[in-house]
Amino acid sequence: MKTAVPALAVALAFSACSTTDDERGETALPPPTTAEVVVETPTAATSPLTTTAAPAPATTAPAVTEPATASTTVAPPPAEEEPAPPPGAGAGDSFYPWLGNSGYDVTHYDLVLEVDPEANAIDGITTVHAVSTAELKTIYLDLSGLEVSAVKVDGVAAEFSRERTELIVQPTAPVPAGVGFTVEVAYSGVPERIDDPGVPFVRIGWFNQDGVIYTANEPSGSMSWFPSNNHPSDKATFTISITVPEHVTAASNGLLVSETVASGRRTATWHTDDPMATYLAAVYIGEFDRHEQETREGLLIRDYIPSSLTDEQRQATLDALSVTPGAIAFFEGLLGPYPFDAYGTLVLPFSIGFAMENQTLSLHGNQTLIPLIIAHELAHAWFGNSVSPGDWSDIWLNEGFAHYLAFLYLADYGGHDIGALMAGELQAARGANAVPPGSVTVEQLFDFPSVYQRSTLTLHALHRHLGDETFFEIVRHHYRQSAGGSATTPDFMAIVAHLGGPEAVALLVSWLYSPEMPSTLDKPSSSSGE
Ligand code: ARG
Ligand code: ZN
Repeated sequence: MKTAVPALAVALAFSACSTTDDERGETALPPPTTAEVVVETPTAATSPLTTTAAPAPATTAPAVTEPATASTTVAPPPAEEEPAPPPGAGAGDSFYPWLGNSGYDVTHYDLVLEVDPEANAIDGITTVHAVSTAELKTIYLDLSGLEVSAVKVDGVAAEFSRERTELIVQPTAPVPAGVGFTVEVAYSGVPERIDDPGVPFVRIGWFNQDGVIYTANEPSGSMSWFPSNNHPSDKATFTISITVPEHVTAASNGLLVSETVASGRRTATWHTDDPMATYLAAVYIGEFDRHEQETREGLLIRDYIPSSLTDEQRQATLDALSVTPGAIAFFEGLLGPYPFDAYGTLVLPFSIGFAMENQTLSLHGNQTLIPLIIAHELAHAWFGNSVSPGDWSDIWLNEGFAHYLAFLYLADYGGHDIGALMAGELQAARGANAVPPGSVTVEQLFDFPSVYQRSTLTLHALHRHLGDETFFEIVRHHYRQSAGGSATTPDFMAIVAHLGGPEAVALLVSWLYSPEMPSTLDKPSSSSGE
């Protein structure tokens, strides 16, 4: 159970076993709020829009602004008790009982999307390739909004219905346990962004702003544009084919495997050969120029820059992105090879209040192109994308690792002392009364002082306690153990127990769960771990 995490985590750590789905408790979602999304003006303390380069304290807070948009949005949910999902219609997530489904594992998603950018409309066919883990009389998928016209299971038309965010499919005969099967869903409409309780600062999913379409789904928004098993515990490969008017570019995750133009329409097909969580799936449509660079090891970096930039702006953007190969090399030195076939950044011609680590092609507005945030989104390739959260309550494993690694990069890049950078973070997190990152509520999923800053300090405290060698051994072990899959806090805790010992576990537990911030880092240290 979520409420018992410290005890459970410690117990599991010492028994050095990893959690299974059964061990994940189910806590009811807190009652949804009826409050309107607050539209605030960014402030220096909370927005990356005003972030300055190091060594100023980190200010990569997620968005507080709601970008102007042409997308329609879903009305706020009613303030009534969240009912429990029927068996099969959830993945057991402790924050999002309705997200994901059970009874099958997806192996591959094939998305064929015809997009009319003017109307912001999709005409889509998504084919889900999966293996059943139980006999399936009913197959649940997650889909919000849009009009479903037909569903086929293994090529045979199937009955279907919609309830909340579930697409409920009744195959003509049950799918037996342990077999491969496909579900093909034909659908269309204007995607409506999702009001997710974890992201109160912006509605998420499919954005359409100033002639650009982009997706930022984390955590639940991908169900606003394709049907899926919408939970990071079930990852799969993806082929995403996007057809758009000829004059615009369509980009997505992985490698561009073909691009054809016929009758004024351009079709770009992208393929992701490594498992990907649905929240990282990307569609980008607009007028962009592609720029390529390479790491010394020959990894392809393809960045997408707005065609509308002036020469000066283009040069400034490319200059900002020129840190990428060095940052990849830095992380490869600490963690091991970059996990995917390519990397890159898509830069929007306007600012958004966040950046997003969409797999292999991170999303940035035009005001987050500073080394710390570029490195943060890149570091998610290892932590978040390759090793994904097993439960959304494990979000600190994403943001803490990405942020701490970005700071280590920044210290190296700028010749700063990591201890000095962390002193700034400590002061900021204290000042903001950062809640313990291991026991955030869904509303605090992206709470900046907690999930970013205090999680970063948690890892720094562990680093300082254990020294470079053991700390990075733990980090690499955690990465290798779950690369291509997902991990939970108890999984990480077990590695800390095994390689770091009981004192390290006690330190980790106090940083993750004690209401007060521990005093471990109060005395500056010039010795180990830095
Ligand atoms: N993971 C993002 C980051 O690294 C934050 C995303 C917030 N979610 C969203 N849909 N905008 O900072
Ligand atoms: Zn992040």
